[in-house]
Amino acid sequence: MTNKLDPWSSSEINDYSKLFEEFGISPFDNVLPEIPSPHMYMRRRVIFGHRDYEQIAEAIRTGAPFSVMDGFMPSGKVHLGHKMVMDQIIWHQQRGASAFVGIADREAFSVRGFSWQKCREIGVEEYILSLIALGFKPDGLIYFQSGCGSVKDLAFELGVKINFSELSAIYGFSGETNLSHMISVATQAADILQPQLEEFGGPKPVVVPVGPDQDPHLRLTRGLAGKMSMFRVEERENANGGKYLSVRGKGALKEALQELKKRIPGKVKLYEEHLDIIQTPDYPFLERLVSQINQPEKKRYFTAELEEVSEFANEIKPYEFSGYEEYFVFRKVWKLTRKILDEIVAEVAAEFEGYAFIPPASTYHRFMSGLQGGKMSSSVPDSYIALTDDPKEGAKKVKRAKTGGCVTLEEQKKLGGKPDECSVFELLLFHLAENDDELLEIREECVCGTRMCGSCKQLAAEKMYEFLKDHQEKRELAREHLGEYNIIYKK
Ligand code: TRP
Ligand code: SF4
Repeated sequence: MTNKLDPWSSSEINDYSKLFEEFGISPFDNVLPEIPSPHMYMRRRVIFGHRDYEQIAEAIRTGAPFSVMDGFMPSGKVHLGHKMVMDQIIWHQQRGASAFVGIADREAFSVRGFSWQKCREIGVEEYILSLIALGFKPDGLIYFQSGCGSVKDLAFELGVKINFSELSAIYGFSGETNLSHMISVATQAADILQPQLEEFGGPKPVVVPVGPDQDPHLRLTRGLAGKMSMFRVEERENANGGKYLSVRGKGALKEALQELKKRIPGKVKLYEEHLDIIQTPDYPFLERLVSQINQPEKKRYFTAELEEVSEFANEIKPYEFSGYEEYFVFRKVWKLTRKILDEIVAEVAAEFEGYAFIPPASTYHRFMSGLQGGKMSSSVPDSYIALTDDPKEGAKKVKRAKTGGCVTLEEQKKLGGKPDECSVFELLLFHLAENDDELLEIREECVCGTRMCGSCKQLAAEKMYEFLKDHQEKRELAREHLGEYNIIYKK
């Protein structure tokens, strides 16, 4: 990512580029064009990276089922950093995602030593009220980890595929680490996989918006998704370069593979631990395949999808395609075949008490820096603005914040300011300036020295005051309507 391409520019993004190479996070620019009316954080490159977000973008475009999931450890005050995550949860929910929010009381209990009572208080008073005030809709699920039986059961099952060496490699756990802390890690992976359980409609793409510090959890969970799945569907090529799909069932019960063979019409070869589907995916085959899906809602969805490609699907001769047009069509039919197959594989796995998890997708956003420069820290109240700060106090914090301006006005007029090193600009960029053009203008003016820090501070302080006042009114409303939300508390 170069600064030239990026009007919001942050030199810091270059520091994040290590994440791209080392951990396989992809630059968000790659998927941006595929997202209809992207979120402000996406347009402004506040979200800089992702894993597998393509599948989420596709679900948003096509209306296919998908989920957004996130967790908050109830550790202290809810602040603007949490708002960034909440905004993204709500944005995905508005675009059709079923939303899941876990309050990580198991983590707070085991890592911070908080009592359950304290976890509940902070969970509701800080996080849940603000989440609702920001626009979370009542059809999403909010739960305290320790009240959620399905998460706890899943965490225990996941534990079979997590060993100590892995935990110490990922988290630096040592012989001194307490067992409950380790269990809380498995619980967090269960949080992320829960939306794909049968009771929530089975496997589907799930996106977890996080800051880069949470990526270890995602790496662990993505690994677990593969290890826990009963089957693995792979695309293979025969000696003539023809494509076919193969389902690998390492460790799967013989009966499960046999059942799967029964459910897939057409030419299928069953081996010891896998089966190959060598049938050409023409229309009659796909029609029969769809008819094998049990879940009525999914069946309807795929029947509609199939209609869309029906005129091409009759002509499909994958081994002979030539020309771009036919290849393009073939890709569509091929992708659809794969998806229908994934569905049937998931159903069969579930029938045999197995799983078929899709590795979760994620987005990564830049951290907000502290208002005094450096990092935000919960032990330094002046370094951050809490969503419950008195609006006047919030405005004052803005006025005391460190800017990227020069020591004297004269110097600043000559040299210009540095918006990339300015926490006031950051507040506008991340939270307060809704209009992109307005923000770009501020940036321009700052850089050429025609804008002085006083006017930015004034603007940001006013906006901050308004935001906090409005947000806190909405929090009180949320308190009155808590009962209408789907919240699982610890019993
Ligand atoms: N560990 C996260 C934190 O420190 C909280 C969390 C729990 C979480 N479960 C999650 C984050 C699932 C993302 C997804 O705040
Ligand atoms: Fe920051 Fe505004 Fe000062 Fe520029 S003019 S350094 S954007 S406060």
